[in-house]
Amino acid sequence: MTADTFHALVISAGEDKTYLRQIQQRTIDDLPAGDVLIRVQYSSLNYKDALSAIGNKGVTRSYPHTPGIDAAGTVADSGVAAFRPGDRVLVTGYDLGMNTAGGFGQYVRVPADWVVPLPAGLSVKESMIYGTAGFTAGMGISFLTETVSPDAGPVLVTGATGGVGSIAVAVLARLGYSVAAVTGKSTAADFLTGIGAAQIVDRAEAADTSGRPLLKSQWAGALDTVGGEILATAVKSTHPWGTVTCCGNVASPDLPLTVFPFILRGVRLIGIDSQNCPMDFRLRVWQNLAGPWKLDGLETLATEISMEGLSDNIDRILKGQQKGRVIVNLG
Ligand SMILES: NC(=O)c1ccc[n+]([C@@H]2O[C@H](COP(=O)([O-])OP(=O)(O)OC[C@H]3O[C@@H](n4cnc5c(N)ncnc54)[C@H](OP(=O)(O)O)[C@@H]3O)[C@@H](O)[C@H]2O)c1
Repeated sequence: MTADTFHALVISAGEDKTYLRQIQQRTIDDLPAGDVLIRVQYSSLNYKDALSAIGNKGVTRSYPHTPGIDAAGTVADSGVAAFRPGDRVLVTGYDLGMNTAGGFGQYVRVPADWVVPLPAGLSVKESMIYGTAGFTAGMGISFLTETVSPDAGPVLVTGATGGVGSIAVAVLARLGYSVAAVTGKSTAADFLTGIGAAQIVDRAEAADTSGRPLLKSQWAGALDTVGGEILATAVKSTHPWGTVTCCGNVASPDLPLTVFPFILRGVRLIGIDSQNCPMDFRLRVWQNLAGPWKLDGLETLATEISMEGLSDNIDRILKGQQKGRVIVNLG
């Protein structure tokens, strides 16, 4: 049964380049055309949603707009045989929440090839505790586990208390890796050791600014979420034939490196693009997150909010203050 109207967080362009956040009533007809109409039960907050909410044109070109790059719930209507009303599904990435009305509304309508059947072993809510952040961590972990074994030495995770970082710390620890967690939060040690970090590295010590092309080799691999000097330092400090994955730029989009870590140590630097990840790889990552990698304490990583709580949490993630995951119960 489909409601004609529903609630959504709508971002509108105001005067003086300000962007207003309001919960508004929308109709199903306001949604873009698409194969699958989904009644969203849970979404989650990712850094990109906050950028969309403040008018970042690299994320969202035109307003009014509903952000939310993640959505999970039940199919309400479908024009394709692959999905039937009542099926439990999730969508992360593609254009959802960017220029397509996203998961901060109670309904989304999307192309069928964006839709992932909810993997066995995960509830709708659990799938959004992972969300794009967990899925992105899962992509990085896929590349790390293919090339670096747990006995090769410690692995570094940067932005460790954030959405991607916290899931990465917890899953890598669960898989037997010794995780060194980089954080800028002086009070985060208990949280990080609680989710499995073996070692805490102060953010200030994680960025080498000496300009040296290679540093003492310390890490078997690294999963970076912040970019800039911290990523460059991780690459320069990785063991020969180690793997570093790169997914974010909260510190900086720059990467001050020479070719030496690559040509003298064979270090691999792997880019992570969760938005357009091919469906076969996407399904494999979700199956791992739902099965062998599933975290016992998944719920403890998340804070649940309602649509009303989004605005405060958007401000918090923009200030780099997010700890763990924030999931949104759409009712
Ligand atoms: N490529 C992709 O497909 C993809 C997918 C998802 C996310 N991302 C990107 O990955 C990054 C992390 O996303 P997220 O959702 O995990 O964000 P998040 O929850 O805000 O976490 C980012 C964490 O980085 C650390 N941090 C914040 N400001 C920093 C600074 N100036 N220098 C160094 N570290 C800083 C903080 O952790 P500590 O306080 O613990 O240091 C913060 O909690 C973002 O850039 C996001 O856009 C990319």
